[in-house]
Amino acid sequence: MDSIIVNADLDGSQISRDIYGHFSEHLGRCIYGGFWVGKDSEIPNINGYRKDVVEAFKELEIPNLRWPGGCFADEYHWRDGIGPYENRKRMINTHWGGVVEDNSFGTHEFFGLCELLGCKPYVNGNVGSGTVQEMSEWVEYMTFGGESPMSKLREANGHKKPWKLPLFCVGNENWGCGGNMKPEYYADLYRRYQTYVRQYGKDKIFKIACGPNAADFNWTEVLMREAAPLMDGLSLHYYTVEPDWNGRKPACDFTEKDWYLTMRNAGFMETLVRRHDEIMTKYDPDKRVALVVDEWGTWFAVEKGTNPGFLYQQSTIRDALVAGITLNIFNNHSDRVRVANIAQAVNVLQSPVLTEGTKMIKTPTWYVFHMYKPHMDATSLTTRVASNQIGPKDARIDSVSASASHKKNVYTVTLTNAELKGKKEINITLAGLKGKIKEASATILTSKEMHVCNSFDKPNEIKEKALEVKLSGANEMFITVPAMSVVTVQIQA
Ligand code: AHR
Repeated sequence: MDSIIVNADLDGSQISRDIYGHFSEHLGRCIYGGFWVGKDSEIPNINGYRKDVVEAFKELEIPNLRWPGGCFADEYHWRDGIGPYENRKRMINTHWGGVVEDNSFGTHEFFGLCELLGCKPYVNGNVGSGTVQEMSEWVEYMTFGGESPMSKLREANGHKKPWKLPLFCVGNENWGCGGNMKPEYYADLYRRYQTYVRQYGKDKIFKIACGPNAADFNWTEVLMREAAPLMDGLSLHYYTVEPDWNGRKPACDFTEKDWYLTMRNAGFMETLVRRHDEIMTKYDPDKRVALVVDEWGTWFAVEKGTNPGFLYQQSTIRDALVAGITLNIFNNHSDRVRVANIAQAVNVLQSPVLTEGTKMIKTPTWYVFHMYKPHMDATSLTTRVASNQIGPKDARIDSVSASASHKKNVYTVTLTNAELKGKKEINITLAGLKGKIKEASATILTSKEMHVCNSFDKPNEIKEKALEVKLSGANEMFITVPAMSVVTVQIQA
């Protein structure tokens, strides 16, 4: 029998709810057709925001939403997206599909969306093709409450009150699409640009520097060495790509070997977080600077017949496992990882939600976010997992991953089972528990077949269901878990 021992008496750090963040770029149908359909659309909307999509994300209680990119951020000029619609600049979205961007969704629309969702706005500034003055004035436009040229302009555009800007990143992927810079050069630019990201009033702007691409440890070293005291967070981007960029296939087209390779690649996030954390700790032993994994998730080939620049992909139980494994890693490293954003929210890459015309579906990834909700702002607990290794020689992985937390007397254990066949019994022990377990319940997300997805015709193929938990002692229980599954166990003690 596999086992998970939770150290119930050893409180770890708080799991920041911001780890459960989302990302919306002007890319494909994420904003247009995803969150935003415009007031005149036949699709039910609230002042232009798509009602079903807003409701789906409200149900997840998402903590923050990142915008406007991604690569788009470093060619976004915020003044193009304010004022009367008819005067807004029409431009080409050169990164993503070469389509016309009419700027009908801009700063006001973004803050309006966050208000509707009840989440924090996370804005990404433009370093690659923008000036210091432009970034500085955008921050003034968004946050200054007194009289100034930018606050007057905001008022003229219909919003007298300043907004709060809790999260702001200075550039995106400046090692690549954001300017192809070297770390030393970007570190200097970061020092300069962030100086003019002024904090007006008492609400803190959490300043994030552009961090490394996956395993580029030198980037982290240089940024931390040159600029750590001037930042609150350093970003990290890592996608689960299988087996490599050139060999990618659509999300529902994979072999058993591909399954294991995907799981192995998802698990690589553990190595990345550990190694970047080690470097950061050299310069920041108190872990003041957060690792902000503001782009993560699967990146498969686009669905047949769709615009290659729109990155539209379907989602199977394989994506759910990637989400479960990754979020377990973040929970287990919540002392350093304090903000994260899956890429992306709607119709792009590993989306929790997909839309087509008037229809909307929840993907398996949506359910994982739903099942992991109890971890938000809970106290993390360490776990020891004993499971077998599975997969072919070049893709050996542990079959089970887990994380645990508690809020007072309610304990949550989330786990993934990457086996492709059979079922397994898992024993869960709350070691060091004071008192005894009163009751326990669980939900499970699984699929009979690995290629199945929720489609617009069959939206409920993969859905969260109840799972039986058998108590077997004062602090012990066991569950029987089928292959390819993500499970949440909630224990009342
Ligand atoms: O999420 C898609 C793209 O991936 C983003 O625009 C970019 O930052 C990354 O390369």
